[in-house]
Amino acid sequence: MEQFQHESSSKVTFTRNTRRPKLVVGLIVITVLAVAVIVGLVVYFNTNNEVSDTKQAKDKKSNNQDQIHNELIDCHPEKGASQNSCSNRGCIWAEQKIKGAPWCIYPESHGYLIDGDVTMTARGQSARLHRIKTDTIYGGEIFEKLLITVEYQTENRLRVKIVPNNVTRYEIPPEALNITASNTLPDLQLYDVTLIKGPPQFGIVIKRKGTNTTVFSTDLPGMTYSDQFIQITTRLPSDNLYGFGEHNHRRFRHDMNWKTWSIFTRDIGAVGPENLYGAHPVYMNLENDGKASVVLLKNTNAMEIVLQPSPNPAITYRVIGGILDFYIFMGPSPEQAVQQYIQAIGRPVMPPYWSLGYHLCRWGYKDIEDMKMVINRTRAAGIPYDVQWGDIEYMFKKYAFTYDRKDWSGLPEIVQDLHTNNMKFVVILDPGIGANRTIINEAAVNSPGYNMFDDGVQQDVFIKNASDNVLIAKVWPGLTAYPDFTKPATEEYWLKWMRFFYENESIQYDSLWIDMNEPSSFVPGSIYGCDNTSLDYPPYVPKIAGSDYQGRMFDKTLCMTSLQNWGRHYDVHSLYGHSMSIQTHNALIRQKPGLRPWTMTRSSFVGTGKYATKWMGDNQSKWPQMHWSIIGIMEFSMFGFAMNGADICGFWFEAEYEMCLRWHQLGAFYPFARNHNGKGDYPELFKHQDPAAWDQRFVDIVKPVLMTRYRLLPYLYTLMYKAHEEGHMVMKAMLFEFVDDKNTWSIDRQFLLGPALLISPALEQNQTIVEAYFPKARWYDYTSGEEIMVTGTTHSLYTPIDKFNLHIRGGHVIPWQEPATTTFESRKNPMGIIIALDENYLANGELFLDDGESLETHMNGKSTVIKFSMNVAGLLTITPVVHNYQPADNLRIRTIEIYGLTRIPYKVVIDGVRIQDSKIRQSGKIIQILTQNITITQSSTIEWMIC
Ligand SMILES: *[C@@H]1O[C@H](CO)[C@@H](O)[C@H](O)[C@H]1NC(C)=O
Ligand SMILES: *[C@@H]1O[C@H](CO)[C@@H](O)[C@H](O)[C@H]1NC(C)=O
Ligand SMILES: *[C@@H]1O[C@H](CO)[C@@H](O)[C@H](O)[C@H]1NC(C)=O
Ligand SMILES: *[C@@H]1O[C@H](CO)[C@@H](O)[C@H](O)[C@H]1NC(C)=O
Ligand SMILES: *[C@@H]1O[C@H](CO)[C@@H](O)[C@H](O)[C@H]1NC(C)=O
Repeated sequence: MEQFQHESSSKVTFTRNTRRPKLVVGLIVITVLAVAVIVGLVVYFNTNNEVSDTKQAKDKKSNNQDQIHNELIDCHPEKGASQNSCSNRGCIWAEQKIKGAPWCIYPESHGYLIDGDVTMTARGQSARLHRIKTDTIYGGEIFEKLLITVEYQTENRLRVKIVPNNVTRYEIPPEALNITASNTLPDLQLYDVTLIKGPPQFGIVIKRKGTNTTVFSTDLPGMTYSDQFIQITTRLPSDNLYGFGEHNHRRFRHDMNWKTWSIFTRDIGAVGPENLYGAHPVYMNLENDGKASVVLLKNTNAMEIVLQPSPNPAITYRVIGGILDFYIFMGPSPEQAVQQYIQAIGRPVMPPYWSLGYHLCRWGYKDIEDMKMVINRTRAAGIPYDVQWGDIEYMFKKYAFTYDRKDWSGLPEIVQDLHTNNMKFVVILDPGIGANRTIINEAAVNSPGYNMFDDGVQQDVFIKNASDNVLIAKVWPGLTAYPDFTKPATEEYWLKWMRFFYENESIQYDSLWIDMNEPSSFVPGSIYGCDNTSLDYPPYVPKIAGSDYQGRMFDKTLCMTSLQNWGRHYDVHSLYGHSMSIQTHNALIRQKPGLRPWTMTRSSFVGTGKYATKWMGDNQSKWPQMHWSIIGIMEFSMFGFAMNGADICGFWFEAEYEMCLRWHQLGAFYPFARNHNGKGDYPELFKHQDPAAWDQRFVDIVKPVLMTRYRLLPYLYTLMYKAHEEGHMVMKAMLFEFVDDKNTWSIDRQFLLGPALLISPALEQNQTIVEAYFPKARWYDYTSGEEIMVTGTTHSLYTPIDKFNLHIRGGHVIPWQEPATTTFESRKNPMGIIIALDENYLANGELFLDDGESLETHMNGKSTVIKFSMNVAGLLTITPVVHNYQPADNLRIRTIEIYGLTRIPYKVVIDGVRIQDSKIRQSGKIIQILTQNITITQSSTIEWMIC
C-alpha cells in the first residue's frame, strides 16, 4: 500500500502540458495574453481529464478544421516557453490552434545526418551519424557522432540501436533482459529497411513487406543525443495506439491529442495520470488494414512520451539516460505481434492451480482475531475461497520476516489451520530492512535470532550512497536499508531470511507478495536528502510525479547517485521491482525445490512477467475504477503478465454494497481474483468488504459468480499454460480476436478470457442494462445457452443486480469441473465439457492437466494435454496429445453440454455405445448428455445425430 491516502487523491492535479499560461508572459499584447490564458486553461483541463474513447470520437468532428498538416516536434517541453526562449534555441515560434500542440517547434535542419556510406552487415545495416547543429539545449555532453545498427533478429523482429560513437554508456544488462537474435539468418523477413542519409534528416524507415506500410520511421527533426537528454520522434502508421505503462489509462486505445505520459517506477495511488509502479516503454500500433506492430524502447531511464494525433501520428520520446535501443515486432496480426513480444522478453510464469482461486486480503485487520473472524465467516458462508493473505500488520513493527508475537500470537497456527483445510497463506513483504537500533534490539527479543540489518551490512548487500555508506531512508519500519537485488549475493541473503521466517518464525507461507519495490521511500532520497548533483536534479526532468518540486528525481524514492551492482540508481531505478522479482522467484525455487514459485509484485519492468505475477496496485473503491481496471489488466496482458487483477471492491475508501457486488461479478473473471481492502485513517478503519461482511443477499449473489469461476478453472488454467508455453494472453481486448471488425478496436468495457469467453460487466451504479457489442460469430449465453441472433452489433443485455453477462463463442470446447469451495476439492470433482458450435456446427478446444503445483511440469514430462476436435459436424474426438500425467482415477467427463443445436439429438453414441434416451436432455437451449464413462485421459469419440 501507499503511505498517504490523501496524497494519492490530491495529486491528480499533476500538470503535464508545457503550453500553460506562464508561457505567454513574454507576449506584449494584452488581448493575446487573455486569449492565451483561456487556451492554456482549456489545455490544462483537457490534458488532465482523459476522455473516454467513444466520447473522444464524438468530439473529433468539431476539431477537424484545426487539424495540423505536419509533425510538430516540441523544442521547449519544459515550462516557460516564449518567443524569445524559443528563438534562442534556434527553433520556430508558431502558435497552434489545436489544443495542447506545441508552439515552439524544431526546424527541419535540427538533428543528424548519415556520414559516408551505409554498410550492409551479415544480418542488417549500419551507418555513422553526425550532428547537424552544435547548440546544446540542456547542457551536459552532447554526442556529435553516433553509430546506428539495424539488426534483423528474426523474420518478424528487428532491432535498431543508436549509440554514441566511442563512448560507453549504461545499457540494460542481459541478466535483467536478454533479447537475442535467432541463430540462423532470417531470410523471409516481414520488413524492408531503408536508411535515408538526409538532408534534411537521416532516417530509418521500416516498411511492411506486402503492403508497404511504413511501420516505423525516424526521418523527423529534433533528434538530440546528449548525456542526460535523448530525444527522438518516430512516425506511426496510424493513430490506433495501445500500451505504454504503467499508468491509470482511461481508455485502451490511446487519446493521441498531445498527451504526455511519463515512465519511471513510482509508489503512488493508481488514480491520476502520473507514472505508476511499473515501467513498460512499449506500444502496439494497429495499422488501418488491421496489421499490427509492437515497438519496445529497451531503456530503463526516466522518460516521457508525447503522442501526436492524425493526420501525422507520431511519438516523441524524451529519455534522460541510457541508449536508444528499439525492438520492432511485425506481427502481422495483433495477436502475433504481442505474442512475438512476449516470447522475446520472457513468457509469463506458470501459476499454481490454487492461485486461480478466490483470495481475501486487507490492510487493517485489527489483530489476529479479526482475521480469524473473516476466515470463519467466509467458510461458514460456503464461499469458494482458496487463499488468505496477511498485509503488513502481521509483522513486528513492520520488520520484514518477523511476525508480531503479541497482537498476532497464533499466526503460525492459523496458517496450519488453513493448510489443514487445503487452503493457502500469502504474506506481504517489503524490501526495506529495518535499521533502527532500538527496534532491531526489540525485534531480536520478539524473534530470537533476528538480525537482518546487521547481517545485510556484513554480507554487503545493501544499496550504498555516493559516499559508499549504506543508504538509509524510511518506509513502514521507519529507518530502512535497501537490499540490492541486482547483486548475486543478495539472493543468498534473501533466501536465508525467507528460511528464518518459515522455520524459526514458523510462518509456513505459500507465496510471497512483494510490495513497495519501486523502491518507495517516505523521505525524499535518504534521511539526509540527496546531494545537489545532475543525477538528482537533471538538466531536463521528464514530467514524473514529484519532479514539479524543484525538478528533483528522488521524490518518494532513493537518491539517484546511490549505487547498485547493475549501475547508478539513476539508471537502474526502474529495475528495482524487476530484480527483486527475479531473486524472490529464484529463492522460492531454492527454498521449496520442485514446487512452482508464485510471487506477486507491484513494481515491474519489461520481462518481469517471467518471474512474478502482478496486481494493479492501490486503486479506489469507486465505480470508475472498475472500468479502468479492465484497461490496466488488458495492457499488462500485452506486457507479458498472464495473471493479474485489480483489488476487487477497491482498496482506498469504503466500498459500497452495490459496487462491491458488481465488482465481484467483474473480478470473478480477472485472471487474479482478490478482494483486498485498505485500512482507512487511524483510528477509523474502513469497514470490512469481504463477501460475508455484508448480508445474506450479498453472499447469495456473489457465490454463484465465484462458483462459475471455479467451474471454469480448467479452461482458465489451460489459458495460463498457453501463456506460459506459447506467450498467449489470458485476459485480452476483443480486437485481438476480431481485428477485421473495426468496431472492436476501441472496446474496453468488455473483455475476453482466451479466445472463447466474453465478459460484458455492469460498471455503473443503478445499471440494469449493459450495452454489449457482439462481433460476427455465434455467441451463446453461458447460463441459458440462448444464442445472440444478430451479431456485428450492440445488444442491450438486461442485467439486474443478481445477473452477470458471460458469453461463449461458437467454435470452442470449454472444459469445466464441478466447483467446490477450494480448488483442492474442485480438482477431484467430475468434469464436463461445453461444446459451443460455430456456423459450421464445429468446435475445438484444449485441456491442460498436471498436479497444479510442480515446477515446469510440461517441460519435465509431467503433464497431459488433451485435444477436443471436430472435423465433421456431429462428431467430437477427444485425444490426449501429451500423456504423462495421470489424474486421480475418478476424473471423468460426466456431462457434455452442446450449445447451438436447435434440436435434441435422437441418437448419441459415445465410443461406439449408444446412450440411453433418458440421458439426453435439454436445459434451456443447452443439450445435455449425461455419461459416467469417459475417462478424461483416454481417447474417445462422441457422436450425435439430429434428424
Ligand atoms: C573513435 O574510435 C576509433 C576506432 O577505435 C578511433 O580511431 C578514433 O580516434 C576514436 N575517436 C575519438 C574521438 O575518440
Ligand atoms: C542471453 O541469451 C544468450 C542466448 O540464449 C545466452 O547465450 C546468454 O548466456 C544469455 N545471457 C544471460 C546473462 O542470461
Ligand atoms: C510495394 O512496393 C514495391 C516496390 O516499390 C512495389 O513493387 C509493390 O507493388 C508495392 N506493393 C503495394 C501493395 O503497394
Ligand atoms: C472459527 O471456527 C473454528 C472452527 O472452524 C472455531 O473453533 C473458532 O472458534 C471460530 N472462531 C471464531 C472467532 O469464530
Ligand atoms: C528509533 O526507534 C525508536 C523507538 O521506536 C524511536 O523512538 C526513535 O525515534 C527511532 N529513531 C529514529 C532515528 O527514527
